[in-house]
Amino acid sequence: MNSLLQNNFYKILPFTKDFLDDVMQVEMSSFKEDIFPRSVFEDLFVNPNIIGFVAIDKHNKVAGYIMLRYAGEEAEILTIAVDKPFLKQGIGTLLMKYSLANLVTGGIKEVFLEVRPSNLPAINLYNKFGAKKVGERPNYYENEDAFVYMLKLE
Ligand SMILES: CC(C)(COP(=O)(O)OP(=O)(O)OC[C@H]1O[C@@H](n2cnc3c(N)ncnc32)[C@H](O)[C@@H]1OP(=O)(O)O)[C@@H](O)C(=O)NCCC(=O)NCCS
Repeated sequence: MNSLLQNNFYKILPFTKDFLDDVMQVEMSSFKEDIFPRSVFEDLFVNPNIIGFVAIDKHNKVAGYIMLRYAGEEAEILTIAVDKPFLKQGIGTLLMKYSLANLVTGGIKEVFLEVRPSNLPAINLYNKFGAKKVGERPNYYENEDAFVYMLKLE
């Protein structure tokens, strides 16, 4: 199978309703604040401008997920998370690679995202894909500003 779709241990599938319960568990354990309610994830199943993918292990367990929204030639990463036992095994990279390839195919040219300045793992992940800081949103989060990053797709 294509290396964008899987590394040695995990594979990427479309985020369907079947994965929602598992994804919610990962969401709740991955974020102290900023937890997306279930209704935001449910948008994925009705809004054609929102796409999502899950990374699953060989037992079909959700190890991570990503959700993005696009319009015109721009997209935004709404959320990405990897379950704690699966961190630092390349799953975030796999989800990003697959999603970005998908966006390129759809003619998307720029991807935006907000991130907490204190979130070094996420900033490092986005930097790995060439994302550049393009702005800040004061008080975006309850107790912290947001950095806005932009990633140009070729
Ligand atoms: C950000 C996140 C998705 C990364 O997932 P991951 O599967 O662990 O990432 P990968 O293993 O693919 O690592 C990719 C890069 O991220 C960076 N990174 C990952 N974990 C890191 C850590 N603990 N500290 C610093 N950098 C880290 C590294 O640059 C790494 O690249 P490298 O392996 O070449 O060194 C994960 O840490 C996570 O779920 N965090 C909680 C949720 C969250 O904050 N999401 C982002 C919201 S904006």
